[in-house]
Amino acid sequence: MTTPVTHDEVESVFEILERGFGERIPSAYRQALRKATIPDRLLVSRDGAEIAGTVTSEPAQMTLPGEVVAPVAAVVGVAVLPTHRRQGRLRSMMRYQLDDLRARGEDLAVLTSSEARIYQRFGYGPATLASTYRLEKRDLSLLWPERVDLSGVAVRFVERDEAERHFPPLLAAHQPTRAGEVSRLRLGWEDLLGVTTEDEQKGRFFVECVQAGEPVGYAVYRIGRDPGVSGRVLHLVELCALRDSSYLALWSYLLEVDLVDTLVTGHRPTDEPVRWLLSDPRRMVPLRTGEHTYARLVEVAASLAARGYFCDGELTVAVTDPFCEWNTGRYHLSVEGNGTAAVERLPLGGAADLTADVSVLASLYLGGLRPSALAQIGLLEAASPRALATADRLFLGPVPPFSTTSF
Ligand SMILES: CC(C)(COP(=O)(O)OP(=O)(O)OC[C@H]1O[C@@H](n2cnc3c(N)ncnc32)[C@H](O)[C@@H]1OP(=O)(O)O)[C@@H](O)C(=O)NCCC(=O)NCCS
Repeated sequence: MTTPVTHDEVESVFEILERGFGERIPSAYRQALRKATIPDRLLVSRDGAEIAGTVTSEPAQMTLPGEVVAPVAAVVGVAVLPTHRRQGRLRSMMRYQLDDLRARGEDLAVLTSSEARIYQRFGYGPATLASTYRLEKRDLSLLWPERVDLSGVAVRFVERDEAERHFPPLLAAHQPTRAGEVSRLRLGWEDLLGVTTEDEQKGRFFVECVQAGEPVGYAVYRIGRDPGVSGRVLHLVELCALRDSSYLALWSYLLEVDLVDTLVTGHRPTDEPVRWLLSDPRRMVPLRTGEHTYARLVEVAASLAARGYFCDGELTVAVTDPFCEWNTGRYHLSVEGNGTAAVERLPLGGAADLTADVSVLASLYLGGLRPSALAQIGLLEAASPRALATADRLFLGPVPPFSTTSF
């Protein structure tokens, strides 16, 4: 049975997280977690008097195509005890949570998944992709940086407390400019910058880029030795740039850090443009490209009306949603002039230009996956090539959606 947690049970939930993920939570982080807990969103799966699983969500914001910043429920902390797996506990918690989000009037949910095939059955679809890269950086430099005006641009080290003050507004200013960006959750900055002790900063360095005295970007990295890799490795944990100049200045700085042979990035956009400025682009090797965030249209009509579209057109989409039957139906989208869609719900049973499971619609929602590519492999059905071409034009965004934050 799934219910919200009671006040006295919050500590037990931390045990579930430790046992579920197989990792102890450092005490300072546990304290921060306690403060960040939103009890009425924290759900537990019960086995008699014992708690056997948990999930929670946090109100956040996500940028939709068209630079629309929309409220989203970020689903986090999903764990079931290893002793209680495959008894339907996750299913029961997902059931409770989606009904609850709907009752709260929250039209969209988003999560990141530890494994690729867990959440589609609950209507989530992979919606943004990310890549990690390795750069063999000896003698690697940027060509033609003078094409962007770098005058008055400098990169400087900052201490943690300064990073804590300067970085969040920079990320917040960047996020509305890219579809897929999810605002950092409550413990996200602690995760990135370290909690209390130097040890927990995980050996990280913080640099910020300033232009005319104003912070315009930052990077967080650490340097270490990796098994099987000769020389030292710079691990880029996060980079955020508000301007082309700060993007280039930060990359240029990272490539020039001494006594480092290799640079390995955390998750970055699949279209990382710096590659095309490298003196040898082949020395930037994608290590992994995969799905990053999963979206869930809790209310299909409201979600389709919320995002922006990039051309005019009309489309009727038939959606099947076995887990949230309230969404199963036909939706007529009409975009004319201003990039927003008038969405009308139609009676079931009539004709449709596209037919898709709600998880597939979620994959199209942020504009990263091409409807015709998904049709090619049978994940969605189009009434005609013309309908598919309209779907491509309407749904696909100008840049791949991406989320800087992981949660
Ligand atoms: C992933 C996890 C939460 C699943 O919980 P669970 O209670 O065993 O899941 P359920 O029994 O409700 O399974 C529901 C469905 O998901 C499937 N499923 C569960 N875990 C899965 C996995 N890791 N990969 C693929 N499918 C999975 C089940 O087979 C079942 O499918 P069905 O509905 O077709 O029968 C649990 O295994 C766990 O805590 N893992 C470690 C921590 C973790 O990875 N958390 C997720 C973070 S995003």
